[in-house]
Amino acid sequence: MGRRRPARPRNVRSLADTAIRMTEHPLPGTSAMEAPVVVASNRGPISYSRDDRGRLVPSKGAGGLVTALSGVFFHDDATWVAAAISDEDVEIARGGRAVGAGPSQRVRFVDIPSDRFDLYYNEFANRVLWFIHHYLWDVPRAPVFGDLTHEAWRAYTEVNLAFAQELAKEAKRDPVYLVQDYHLALVPRMLRELAPEARIVHYTHTPFAGAQYLRILPTRIRQDLIRGMAGADIIGFQSRAWAENFLLCARQVPDLHVDLRSGRVASEDHEGQVRTLPVAVNPHALREAATTDRAKEARLEVDEVRGDRKLLLRVDRLEPSKNIVRGFLAYELFLKQHKEWRGKVTFLALFSPTREKLVEYQTYADECLGEATRINEELGTKGWEPIEIRLQEDFLYAVGAYGAYDALMVNSVFDGMNLVAMEGPLMNERHGALILSTNVGAIGRIGRYALTTNPFDVQETADAIAAAMELPKEERRRRARGISRSVLAHTPETWLWNQLEGVDELRRRSLEPSEKSQEPDQPRRTFDDQIGGGY
Ligand code: G6P
Repeated sequence: MGRRRPARPRNVRSLADTAIRMTEHPLPGTSAMEAPVVVASNRGPISYSRDDRGRLVPSKGAGGLVTALSGVFFHDDATWVAAAISDEDVEIARGGRAVGAGPSQRVRFVDIPSDRFDLYYNEFANRVLWFIHHYLWDVPRAPVFGDLTHEAWRAYTEVNLAFAQELAKEAKRDPVYLVQDYHLALVPRMLRELAPEARIVHYTHTPFAGAQYLRILPTRIRQDLIRGMAGADIIGFQSRAWAENFLLCARQVPDLHVDLRSGRVASEDHEGQVRTLPVAVNPHALREAATTDRAKEARLEVDEVRGDRKLLLRVDRLEPSKNIVRGFLAYELFLKQHKEWRGKVTFLALFSPTREKLVEYQTYADECLGEATRINEELGTKGWEPIEIRLQEDFLYAVGAYGAYDALMVNSVFDGMNLVAMEGPLMNERHGALILSTNVGAIGRIGRYALTTNPFDVQETADAIAAAMELPKEERRRRARGISRSVLAHTPETWLWNQLEGVDELRRRSLEPSEKSQEPDQPRRTFDDQIGGGY
């Protein structure tokens, strides 16, 4: 089968320059654009279970990472290496086989003993890394790092090594490795030790903590995590803010040399390039989802919930970084300060359960549901419930609901990108307003069309709800169109293309020592809408 090239992206500014330089300085070996791709992530694009008749059936993996990366599978010759999560995944992993996800796309599972998986995933990736990168600790009390944390770190190291070893098996095909997220921060360096010439991208989908906050981590763990990521050729982030944080954190690691202007991070034997590469949503997949029976059914149900009121919507995984409690408090304040809106608006909150094993998540979920109940009891009337909650894992329901809102609330305390902020406006049919936290990566792409709010400032968020409800029709339309245009200007294909192009550019640079020394270190942009300039 012939190799299919990804569609040429429209918005890669440096592509023409690159093409000229490619002919002047052809790369030895295959260009990254043409090479096989090997993705590594904790959660894979599919997971297996058994149906009533005992047959293995795949289902799509959940979460923002899988959604963002699904487009990568358009690439011809792609392998996806993921942790075996269900018993059936483990069975497949033990059989040593890859499963087909498309004509030339394969998924391979890494088998991890369940007690080690629990330590690596729940204790370390979720309880430590997720919390640090989203600033979730109540610092006077937590965290307390004891022997459990250090044991969890050992498990994390083992799992990262298992991934690196699995990936190294592909090295002879000279692929481009796309290593995903905080679960696998050590993989780039480990893989480079096993396959020194490997072309590696590490991409962080979450925020990256600032230098002072990251110092909460035990020193050796903090330094090893940064060194691990710095083993990649391209170290990618959703926004310039997170890229900058990484560079400032790397500057505090003794054996790394950081050039803040160019975004380069060098160790004794390797140089990595930090880049801002925001993910994109796939409009075709969303539109297809909207045509399903389930999405249509949801739309009718949500239209009924709205009735002749306005609908304020939120769609989140039920978890602390989403700032759900403050969102409810802001809504309560809005209803108290704007009594004329009582009975005229409904807040529909769609929550999907997540990481339920963590006690912090259980407590937070209880708080969210408790606040909604309290507000409903205090402000609700016979025919009106101020807040309605649906607790379900149902993406198609969310797609249906997107069509029907008058305002969408995205008030995360911190968020790498936040796909809901882009998906909602694409699918909305009422020129609904977007209330957007200033601390999400999406702010760089669509912030100028949103009603932005400091997520900690409940009064400011209440004001944003009032503004959203009262925005003149023309203004709503202008903003909604602006968001859709900005979102549609980027695709998963351009996101992947930018990463591959970055890998080729680095290799070319390493072959041009004389040119390199003559060129001043110019900061470079990958998208013109990133927060500020640089990297
Ligand atoms: C969200 C984040 C991703 C992360 C994923 C993990 O989608 O945006 O950065 O990788 O959660 O979710 P999981 O359910 O696998 O813990």
